[in-house]
Amino acid sequence: GSPRPRLTFIGVGPLGGTYAACYAELGYEVLGYDVDSGRIEKFSAGEMPFYERGLDDLVRKNVDNGRLRFTTDPQEVADFGDVHFLCVGTPPRKDSDSADLAYIESAVTTLAPLLTRRCLLVGKSTVPVGTAAWVQQLIDKHSSPDVEVEVAWSPEFLQEANAVDDVLRPNRIVLAAQSEWADELLQAAHKGVFELAAMEDREVPLVKTDFATAELVKVASNAFLSTKISFINAMAELCEASGGDVNALARAMGYDSRIGHRFLRAGIGFGGGCLPKDLRALAARGKELGVGESMRFLAEVEDINLNRRTKVVRLAAELCGRENGPNGPELSGLNITVLGATFKPDTDDVRDSPALDIARRMSNEGATVTVYDPMGMDNARMFRPELRYGHTLTEAVEGADLVCVLTEWEEFRHVDPEALSDLVAKPRILDGRNALDPQLWRNAGWTYRGLGRAAD
Ligand code: UDX
Repeated sequence: GSPRPRLTFIGVGPLGGTYAACYAELGYEVLGYDVDSGRIEKFSAGEMPFYERGLDDLVRKNVDNGRLRFTTDPQEVADFGDVHFLCVGTPPRKDSDSADLAYIESAVTTLAPLLTRRCLLVGKSTVPVGTAAWVQQLIDKHSSPDVEVEVAWSPEFLQEANAVDDVLRPNRIVLAAQSEWADELLQAAHKGVFELAAMEDREVPLVKTDFATAELVKVASNAFLSTKISFINAMAELCEASGGDVNALARAMGYDSRIGHRFLRAGIGFGGGCLPKDLRALAARGKELGVGESMRFLAEVEDINLNRRTKVVRLAAELCGRENGPNGPELSGLNITVLGATFKPDTDDVRDSPALDIARRMSNEGATVTVYDPMGMDNARMFRPELRYGHTLTEAVEGADLVCVLTEWEEFRHVDPEALSDLVAKPRILDGRNALDPQLWRNAGWTYRGLGRAAD
């Protein structure tokens, strides 16, 4: 077939690292770049600097076959790539909710003067609308006038714990190019994805659009997902107040295909490295663009989300027969076990984790909190050293006055309530993710409480 463009991925964190390995797997020659030499050393040795299901095999295989290489040298990146994908992080700024574009700026201004031949710089990082045009200005200012460097945009939608599949088999590809040449090169850089789809008898919808829309697709999608979760969590409050069951409500609503079942799981709300920060950044950008009024509901979505955490701490006090007085819930002297530290199962990521935040809040109210998580212990310990940690689930629940399930790991679903009740001080369980079968636990003598469901 036609020659494939050579690809570089600038920033090989959970986003760029996954893309680099997957595109090598799709047959491209790939070079990953990062300023973090620790990451580069690990990847180069075929090892993983972070956990992502199934990624280690792809990295090892493609490092071995030579299609996947890594470097900390920007000149090597400039010399190698026909298409450079910008995958650096855009964390919130220290002084506001807006996204900090410092990593983008430094990546672009480092690379631009080193470029010696016509190439494409494609943004994948999640950015405020308007960034792509600004990146083109940066490029024009910092690259040689003899070299043509065009900016294009192609947002990504990968979900942690499913990232490999999301990249190899995306549910859509969005491309924004400024010229026919760029459009063709961009399509060539994604051809592997379409070929794999054809082989598997699938279709990948392709949306070609302008910069602003391409930038917005990502944040709009994430804001929509956040809204969906907060919507069902608001309904959970309504169920709690009226004796309904939010799980049955969500199931029944979801059968309307216009609504759908996904992202309607009520519980302690959303967290992670994307949804919360993207929501705040979108609201901030809306305000800057003079449409703050129409973005106001996003603040409400966030309030509902954070209120779930307050709610769980109050519920914990209630379950233990404690006051929820004017000074807040009183948990002193209680041993509380928190099962789950990561922001969702099958990852070791604890960024903006509702589970860990609730553990911290309970500890602040005086409880002795012991945390257990199948995969997130190292990160949790680093982030919240003040909490106690159990090596195993059984060790963590020993002597507990209350057990809280705050991340719905498979391991927790299979716990035998009978066996567990011998270990705890009081058989009380708070199911923050509606992950357990209430009847099973009640039959074994536990006081069970889920969110958005009636009490015993
Ligand atoms: C998210 C988006 O899904 C993804 O498309 C985007 O590219 C990056 O951000 P991720 O951060 O990996 O992906 O997590 P996701 O699976 O979306 O879950 C986010 C949070 O929402 C988790 O804390 C999860 O527990 C919570 N959640 C999810 C719910 O509380 N209820 C649900 O029904 C679904």
